[in-house]
Amino acid sequence: MTEAILLVGGQGSRLRPLTSHTPKPLLPVAGVPFLAHQLARAAAAGVTRVVFATSYLAGLFEPHFGDGARFGLRLEYETEAEPLGTGGAIRNAARRLRCGPGEPVLVFNGDILSGLDIAALREGHRASGAAVTLHLTRVPDPRAFGLVPTDADGRVLAFLEKPGSPEQIVTDQINAGCYVFTRSVIDRIPVGRAVSVERETFPGLLASGVPVRGVVDDTYWLDLGTPAAFVKGSADLVRGIVSSPALPGPVGDALVLPGARVHPGAALGGGTVVGEGAEIADGSVVEGSVVLPGALIGAGARVRRSVIGRHAVVGTDATLDAVVVGDGAEVGAGNELPSGVRVGCGVRLAPEAVRLSAAPTPCAAPSPFTLSGVPHASSAVPRTRSA
Ligand code: GTP
Repeated sequence: MTEAILLVGGQGSRLRPLTSHTPKPLLPVAGVPFLAHQLARAAAAGVTRVVFATSYLAGLFEPHFGDGARFGLRLEYETEAEPLGTGGAIRNAARRLRCGPGEPVLVFNGDILSGLDIAALREGHRASGAAVTLHLTRVPDPRAFGLVPTDADGRVLAFLEKPGSPEQIVTDQINAGCYVFTRSVIDRIPVGRAVSVERETFPGLLASGVPVRGVVDDTYWLDLGTPAAFVKGSADLVRGIVSSPALPGPVGDALVLPGARVHPGAALGGGTVVGEGAEIADGSVVEGSVVLPGALIGAGARVRRSVIGRHAVVGTDATLDAVVVGDGAEVGAGNELPSGVRVGCGVRLAPEAVRLSAAPTPCAAPSPFTLSGVPHASSAVPRTRSA
């Protein structure tokens, strides 16, 4: 029996408004809730029981995954009354573990897509006798990450905060968000308060001389925490750049889920996913994007590297590049939304409200408002005189 803890309680604030109603690990990635990919990979690596450490929108996980039988897993759910951070969440979830103190327990962040050989990480941990083994990955630009240098034998030397200057970039290795703990180490994490494994538990183990191992693995790795990474991860799964046993269709340029309608005159590519009940109209081009269930892309619209929320509408001839459209929002016809724009859930953008190029239709008559927003005297409602 191999047990695992899945950390899924974070707020996913970098992905708002997508995470306003849906926890990040439940957002559809390549057509299924992201966790389905992680659970399938864990099961394939011999994991048999998984405890979900939940907090934010905690009640939404069990209806999706139930007892885990369809993944060949036994699933348990443990919810924190208050968010306990990564370490506190691991400690809290550990009450559901059944293994003995010397057994390895896998811990996964619930937002990492990787091609890691999970079974090899667990077996290497067993053989090494380390207290914790961390999966480390190399990144081209380590400035935005805490750094984890190791010696030639893979022993972790330090856990360094984000480098503030070039001299502080002593390695390109970062914590990849997957660990193997020897169970007894989890049991020593303080109970009932917030604890960060990265800032408190791991540095504490090093300070007390306990061996902590880092395994640098250069297979595919992506933290899906930002909109750009989210669409990239989904598109990479659809195109087979990273594989998942949970992909609900063949690898290809696009994945159209049952119940979606794509007009023959529309062009899909770059690993786009079209969710159940979504509709893509004639002449539209959708590249490298995630179109969530029930969304509608109007005729002639161009959508690149974007996420279109559930039941959201992108109007005729609108252009979106690296945009997030919240659930139920409506982007009116002819808008041109540039990279980084986020449209809130349920918001309606009038046709041609945002343009980068000249609007094809002339402006309507000027409104009765001055630049400062104060109505012109002539158009202001006359005051009634009190008697
Ligand atoms: P951001 O708010 O966008 O930073 O995302 P996040 O909330 O997911 O935070 P982060 O990416 O740092 O979290 C890493 C992993 O730990 C994710 O899988 C989170 O779901 C999880 N996590 C973070 N904090 C908590 C917590 O307090 N409790 C539990 N159970 N999980 C947590």
